[in-house]
Amino acid sequence: MSMREKIEAAAARYPNQRSAIMPALLIAQKEHGYLPGPVLEEVADILGVERIWVYELATFYTLFHTEPVGLFHLQLCDNVSCMLCGSDELLKHLEAMLAISKDETTPDGLFTLSTVECLGACEMAPVMQVGDDYHGNLDVAQVDALLDSLRARAPQAAGVEHASAQRPGE
Ligand code: FES
Repeated sequence: MSMREKIEAAAARYPNQRSAIMPALLIAQKEHGYLPGPVLEEVADILGVERIWVYELATFYTLFHTEPVGLFHLQLCDNVSCMLCGSDELLKHLEAMLAISKDETTPDGLFTLSTVECLGACEMAPVMQVGDDYHGNLDVAQVDALLDSLRARAPQAAGVEHASAQRPGE
């Protein structure tokens, strides 16, 4: 199924096309890995909505990426609950372990490190989202173990990404 067909199928579940922008962007991001301008315009054209509406949503929510991100996008919450439970220390540790600063990607393309607003999981602060998964009650040792486990999964994850990218006409 092509991206257009997926978006049209998703949009059919909504009362109007503007309401379908969020799910359409999720589909487009899954297809392309991120949302550059031409993809945002394609989404707007498929839905028949104003391009500015699509741009507004894509640039407002941290779950959408208008720039390329690494294979694993580490999104560390730095809101109050997580900050009180040590997210600052975890951020410094991640920057040191990955040899990058916040909002950067490692040269090998494996990791992008970001901070985000509350992930809605304060009960397990400090929390970091990696892809669709939440990792909570983190400490430095758990972060190290998580990085090791992600590195070990990288070949498989890269294969999935590659397979996805091989379906442009699907
Ligand atoms: S403050 Fe971090 S999940 Fe809510």
